[in-house]
Amino acid sequence: MQDHLPISVTRVAHSRIGEVDFNHLPFGVEFTDHIFTADYKNGSWHDFRIEPLKPLSVHPGNMAWHYGQAIFEGMKAVLNPQGEPLLFRPDKHIERLNNSALRMSMPPFPKEFFIQGLKMFVELEKHWIPKGEDSALYLRPLMIATDTHVGVRPSQTYKLIVMALPVGPYYSKPLNVLVQTKYIRAVEGGVGYAKTAGNYGAAMYPTRLAKEKGYDQIVWMEPKEFRYVQEAGTMNIFFRLKDRIVTPMLTGAILPGITRDSIIHVLRDMGHTVIEQKVDINELLAAYKRGELIEAFGSGTAAMVANIYNMRFEDFDMRFDESNWELSLELKRAITNIRNGKTEDKWGWTMSTTGALEAVVASNIQ
Ligand code: COI
Repeated sequence: MQDHLPISVTRVAHSRIGEVDFNHLPFGVEFTDHIFTADYKNGSWHDFRIEPLKPLSVHPGNMAWHYGQAIFEGMKAVLNPQGEPLLFRPDKHIERLNNSALRMSMPPFPKEFFIQGLKMFVELEKHWIPKGEDSALYLRPLMIATDTHVGVRPSQTYKLIVMALPVGPYYSKPLNVLVQTKYIRAVEGGVGYAKTAGNYGAAMYPTRLAKEKGYDQIVWMEPKEFRYVQEAGTMNIFFRLKDRIVTPMLTGAILPGITRDSIIHVLRDMGHTVIEQKVDINELLAAYKRGELIEAFGSGTAAMVANIYNMRFEDFDMRFDESNWELSLELKRAITNIRNGKTEDKWGWTMSTTGALEAVVASNIQ
């Protein structure tokens, strides 16, 4: 990678950091001082810059609002024991962002600018990284169409914006989930594997209905038969059976979670058998009734590893006893410790941001 990619840095005159209560960080509320951003026009990305965060002025005819060309990512940065910021698997995130872009007929973002821009951005915002075990600096890359145009066609201009938010846990307690047997999230051939805004918008109504009945999330099923499990709202899903761990295989209708992939690597490395397969809800229920379904948990960047204490399927509650949550807790610890550099990073997943701003020519920093 080039050392001096042209990414400019303009700092805020006064940081807001003193206004933030780092002992109370609900997810998604506080934003740092700056963003990393770039614009696409005339067939290429340009104006890569880190600048103060401020509201955008957007024309009501903005195409992203009308036709949904909006994709995003979720990433986390934490501090290692030496106080250096670490990014987690940024190469996988840009790969997924660009797969989402392709599916939504949006332009790919150059990987080297994504990684270098993130390193510089996180290095600049490192004082915002919370120190608590369950906390992190959440990074939200977003790409949106920016043409002002009414009529369905791909936009010719786009904006990439990476925001950063100091956050605590996304789910602060174990989850009660409902297996959905009426609405669907995604079908094969659709956009289920893309991290596009519409997937989340479409999930809101069924999720609201489930919440009104006391559930925290929905377990989405494959359409028509409602027999095979897909994912759980904001997360992929894993089930620990007596002798193996199963998770739905990536069919194209499921988000290819980067935490999901990391968990599969770590579990196999711990000696567990992990099978990616079609997960039949009737077989899960039968295993539960035989006492062979022991743990269920969700995984995601925001959610990390989220325990499920109850999973409702039709008129049956599968309850998961907290005293059996050994594996999920061990796993959470293992992933946390790789992310924060406390254990060996044998797969080379973490990337330090140290020195990233020194690579910028001094005249480039205002
Ligand atoms: C994430 O896990 O980072 C997500 O993007 C899920 C959610 C917060 C929308």
